[in-house]
Amino acid sequence: MDEYILEVRNLTKYFGGLKAIDNVSFKINRGEIYSIIGPNGAGKTTLFNMITGFIPPTEGEIFFQGQKINGLKPYQIARLGIGRTFQLTTLFMQNTVLENLLIGQKQTREFPVFHSIMSVKRRRVSQSEAVERAHAVAEFIGLGTFKNTMAAILPHGAQKQLSIGLALSGDPDLILLDEPLGGVDMDEIDMIIELIKKIRDEGKTICLIEHKMRVVMNISDRILALSYGKKLVEDLPEVVASNEDVIASYLGDRYAARG
Ligand SMILES: Nc1ncnc2c1ncn2[C@@H]1O[C@H](COP(=O)(O)OP(=O)(O)OP(=O)(O)O)[C@@H](O)[C@H]1O
Ligand SMILES: [Mg+2]
Repeated sequence: MDEYILEVRNLTKYFGGLKAIDNVSFKINRGEIYSIIGPNGAGKTTLFNMITGFIPPTEGEIFFQGQKINGLKPYQIARLGIGRTFQLTTLFMQNTVLENLLIGQKQTREFPVFHSIMSVKRRRVSQSEAVERAHAVAEFIGLGTFKNTMAAILPHGAQKQLSIGLALSGDPDLILLDEPLGGVDMDEIDMIIELIKKIRDEGKTICLIEHKMRVVMNISDRILALSYGKKLVEDLPEVVASNEDVIASYLGDRYAARG
C-alpha cells in the first residue's frame, strides 16, 4: 500500500482568463492532518472542488489510493472514500440531527438495484444499520443530546459539528474540511478542534483549510501555503510559519483588508 493517500499532480484550473490554480503538486500521507493555507482567493476551495469532482481540472491529475479520480463524478469519488464539508455549511435545515445523518449516508451508500426478496431483506438490514450508524455518528461528533433537534435551531458551532458528521457519513478514509472554524465562537472552537483530532485518531486522514493560524500551526502535521493559485511552500508548521513568502502574502492580505 502506498504511504500517501492522495496525490495531486501538476494541477491547473482556469476560470476564463483567471488562473485559480497554477501547476500545483502535493501528496498527503496516510493518517496525517494536512492543512492548506493562503489568503482569500488563493485557490484553496477550488482545490477541494477538483479533488471531489465538483469541477474538472484544466490540466493535471488527481490520484486517491493510487487510483486516478479526476473525471469521476462527485458521488463516485465519495463512494471511493473521500468525504468533505463546504465552506458555507450545507445542512438539511428542516430535518433533525439524526435525519441529516441518515440522508448523508443515503447520498454515499450504494443501494441494491434488484427488487428480489433477498435484496429487500438486505435493504431492511442496511436501513437498520444506517439508523445505528446515524446514532453512533451523532454521539461521535458530540451531538448525542441533540439527536432529535432540528438543524436550523442548533447553535452555529453545533451546525459545523453536524456538517462534519455529514462528511463522515460514508465512513471516508480521507476527509476534506473547508474552514470548519469559520464564524465559530471562541467557546465552540475547542470542541471542533477536539473533534478533528478524534477523527484523526480513528485512523482517518484529514485535509484542512483554515484561516486561524494558531490552530493550524498547532494541529497540522504538514502545511501547504498557496498564493494566487501557486504553491509557495509545503513543509512542517514551524518552517511554513517562518517562510518569508508566506509572511509577505499574509501581510499583503491584511493590508488589503484594511484598505
Ligand atoms: N466557479 C468559479 N467561477 C469563476 N471564478 C471562480 C470560481 N470559483 C472560484 N473562482 C475564483 O477563483 C479564485 C480562487 O477562489 P477560491 O474560492 O478557490 O479561493 P479560496 O482560497 O478558497 O478563498 P477563501 O479563503 O476566500 O475561501 C478566486 O479569484 C475566485 O473568485
Ligand atoms: Mg475558500
